[in-house]
Amino acid sequence: MNGGRLAGKVVVVTGAARGQGAAEAAALEREGATVVATDVNSGEGVRRLDVTLADDWADLADHLRDAYGAVHGLVNNAGITWRARLDEVTAEDMSCVHAVNVNGPLLGIQHLAPLMPPGSSVVNVGSSAALTAHYPVAYTTSKWALRGLSKTAALELGPRGIRVNTIHPGFIETEMTASAAPAFRESNIRETPLGRVGTVDEVTPLVVFLLCDDSSFITGAEIPVDGGLTSHGGVKSVSDALLDGAGR
Ligand SMILES: NC(=O)c1ccc[n+]([C@@H]2O[C@H](COP(=O)([O-])OP(=O)(O)OC[C@H]3O[C@@H](n4cnc5c(N)ncnc54)[C@H](O)[C@@H]3O)[C@@H](O)[C@H]2O)c1
Repeated sequence: MNGGRLAGKVVVVTGAARGQGAAEAAALEREGATVVATDVNSGEGVRRLDVTLADDWADLADHLRDAYGAVHGLVNNAGITWRARLDEVTAEDMSCVHAVNVNGPLLGIQHLAPLMPPGSSVVNVGSSAALTAHYPVAYTTSKWALRGLSKTAALELGPRGIRVNTIHPGFIETEMTASAAPAFRESNIRETPLGRVGTVDEVTPLVVFLLCDDSSFITGAEIPVDGGLTSHGGVKSVSDALLDGAGR
């Protein structure tokens, strides 16, 4: 598409074989970007890249340098969860989840930032779990760590004109959330002011906005896209109880 908000820009998306990553890649393409969709599971139009492997990132950087000469956007979307609780999680579980959710974005920024001209943008995909307590401890700690990485990267890359922002999805219908117990979905809906779960198409407009020049003075920011889940600090049940006729 000519004339889209991302026309002429080359954007890399990780974890783009399915879920939010696939939707983001499609939306970015609709806005005119040349999208390099990557995933540990290769698929049609998806280049194989395991975000935990520095060699994979080095190969991708070589390819981008040869093919395009520059990269203007990176969406660090790939992520995994592991639902072990505090009393059962192992050091290996922690390392495995952090390798994908924290080291992956770090390696991506380290390898692609040198190819980014001023005006480029990185979007890190955090989670509502990064804004609250959340029961899967390996996942929660990894997403909190990603917030720190995002802030540091925004600080260090800002002088080069590269922006780094973080989005925090709440419960979004994908294969990741489909693998959770039904009670997880139901309790999320109960705690979400908008009273429902979200779709991948409600996340992608925010990613497009943060990658394009409409957000040219926004960096180091964190934006929830969660139906209000993390906005109320746990008081929704109090509000709901009083609405249910228990008085004021
Ligand atoms: N779905 C939600 O409700 C939700 C909520 C908050 C945050 N998130 C975050 O959004 C992002 C996308 O999640 P999703 O729901 O689309 O999940 P998903 O499981 O449907 O997709 C994740 C993708 O990442 C890929 N991936 C996993 N490990 C990888 C690796 N080492 N290297 C490259 N790719 C790898 C998978 O193959 C898969 O295609 C993740 O970072 C996730 O933590 C999801």
